[in-house]
Amino acid sequence: MRLMAEDRMESKGRFVSRRTDHTDDGSEVAYGGMVLERLARHTCRVAGVDWSCLFVIDRADPRLAIAAAGCGVGWDLIGTRVGADEGVVGTVLSSGEPALVGDHRELTGVLESEPRSRAGVALPIRFAGAVGGVLCAAAPYEQEEFTPQDIELLAELADLAGAALDHGRQHLHYNETVHAHVEALAVAMDMRDQRTARHSDDVVELSRAVGELLALGPAPLLELEFAARLHDVGKIQVPDAVLNKPGPLEPHENEVIRCHATWGSETLSRIPGLEAVATIVRFHHERWDGAGYPDGLSGVRIPLASRIISVCDAYGAMTSDRPYRSALDPREALDEIRAGAGSQFDPAVVQALVEALSTMV
Ligand SMILES: [Fe+2]
Ligand SMILES: [Fe+2]
Repeated sequence: MRLMAEDRMESKGRFVSRRTDHTDDGSEVAYGGMVLERLARHTCRVAGVDWSCLFVIDRADPRLAIAAAGCGVGWDLIGTRVGADEGVVGTVLSSGEPALVGDHRELTGVLESEPRSRAGVALPIRFAGAVGGVLCAAAPYEQEEFTPQDIELLAELADLAGAALDHGRQHLHYNETVHAHVEALAVAMDMRDQRTARHSDDVVELSRAVGELLALGPAPLLELEFAARLHDVGKIQVPDAVLNKPGPLEPHENEVIRCHATWGSETLSRIPGLEAVATIVRFHHERWDGAGYPDGLSGVRIPLASRIISVCDAYGAMTSDRPYRSALDPREALDEIRAGAGSQFDPAVVQALVEALSTMV
């Protein structure tokens, strides 16, 4: 949550909190803001009005309602909070019934500075099983009052706003849960092995840069980042004696280490929302020529995100110190990666890494 500037004032007995920065992760504004802005504009266009404003209960403080979006309203109104039990907005929030007013300035109270009055209406927005917002609209100057048809249309728009907020809230909840799981696993991994933690951070940064260059969309990019962060989470199950052995591994120890790809994938697949990430993690040690593990997949049968992590993982490992050897110079490491293009690595991903590295330094 970020509040850059906030000044609070008591005005005509009404608590008003005016913010100049409207970023508020976790608020209705943050997750439904874009949709609400569109709905405010639609309200004006579809209902033939030139002034609309949507208030929603502030999740951070349910005693307040926040002006989340508007059309034709003063620029300083949006992001402003009013008492959720005060004025016309408060009445609609508590009664769940529409309210008609002769002077639209009553809808926002002291916040509306328009010199002329006109007819106004406030309708409840229902979401999450309760009244959680209010859609306000002012009639055009030439129209004395709203007709029942106008109100019916506005009520439908209020329902749409409610559906948008419901959807946004479920989406946010889902994302928050997934993020929390990723973070918890990453912390468990870091506690087990600090070296893996630093390595994972490097792989995330590189993978993100490569993914962007390969034009991944927002959702695949997020999955890629999660998978890059957790690609070695299965190492939690590898015994210390093997994981931290200061020297080359015996064949049977290598077998144990190799299990981390499937172990990690199995752990992640049990977490709802991380199924795709589990798949990416499973294949992060596959090779372009099919000689990798655990399934020996080759070429484009290997998920693109796994191919990206494979390249970035190798580069990250080569450029950091290991118990049995010191870090390679970045240029040497890149030469080795280039040498593996077409055999170990997807050539297109190697090319993207070269480009990414040239812009990162
Ligand atoms: Fe790995
Ligand atoms: Fe790794």
